[in-house]
Amino acid sequence: MILELFEYLTTPCSWTARKLGYLNGQLGIKVRHRQCRQAWKEHLERTKQAIRTAVLDCSQRRKAVVLGSGLLLDVPLADLAASFDQVILVDVVHPLSVYLTTLRYRNVKLVRADVTETAVELAEAAKDPHKPLPHAEPQLFCDDPLVDYVVSVNLLSQLPYVPAYYLEKKSRPESEVDAYARDLIKSHLDYLKRLPGVVTLITDVEKLKVNRAGDVVEQFDILYGASLPEKTEEWTWEHVPLNHLSPEFAYHRHVCAVQNLKVLSTEY
Ligand SMILES: C[S@@+](CC[C@H](N)C(=O)[O-])C[C@H]1O[C@@H](n2cnc3c(N)ncnc32)[C@H](O)[C@@H]1O
Repeated sequence: MILELFEYLTTPCSWTARKLGYLNGQLGIKVRHRQCRQAWKEHLERTKQAIRTAVLDCSQRRKAVVLGSGLLLDVPLADLAASFDQVILVDVVHPLSVYLTTLRYRNVKLVRADVTETAVELAEAAKDPHKPLPHAEPQLFCDDPLVDYVVSVNLLSQLPYVPAYYLEKKSRPESEVDAYARDLIKSHLDYLKRLPGVVTLITDVEKLKVNRAGDVVEQFDILYGASLPEKTEEWTWEHVPLNHLSPEFAYHRHVCAVQNLKVLSTEY
């Protein structure tokens, strides 16, 4: 508890990210990982492996960009740093542990950024219930000719999570929050297609409620109706194991990986 408070107070973070709840969100992921370490292991390893495989498609290896690098639980950082001239880790908040880890690498750089590029406008709009919510049109790295690889790593479904919670606290109508969430997801998918280099998308797409017998009893779309380009791999992430929240139900995530999104994508 004291350590978490220390981390909350000392983690470098913009005022907007702190206010909207991104820092709290990330501290929450750290706690859940500690509690569910064994259950998450396979998902994290499969994510790393999907990235290693995707990198094989890169004919040049100058700059790699990791969107949603977070705690680096699912990022094969040592492999990326060995393969590329430069690795750029992008997150709205980089945890203290990541500042320390990256000191070991001379070619790894941290970029603290909101990849939707709407957070500042959102915080402003949330003050006035009559102000429209922003539209996302991210540009970060789109014009960087040195970028040979980009991965959006377990980020897509998280994009609306913190803002939607914040807007609900501000009593924004559900229909407006849902429209904003849909826009964030769609804009991120469009953004990935505009980025240079080989682009990989790894994301959970559904939340599954699973009974003690292992049957899926309910499914929830967590991408607000968006469909993905053709996936190259899929797996189940034991996100909340049995007996963690309930003795009756576990909650799993259906995860998809699209190895080289621009090659496979037609219209979606
Ligand atoms: C589920 S975690 C992804 C797992 C992460 N790769 C790890 O190993 O911890 C989602 C990450 O996305 C980041 N994130 C959420 N919204 C973001 C945004 N708008 N811009 C940049 N990063 C964001 C969070 O801070 C968090 O670190």
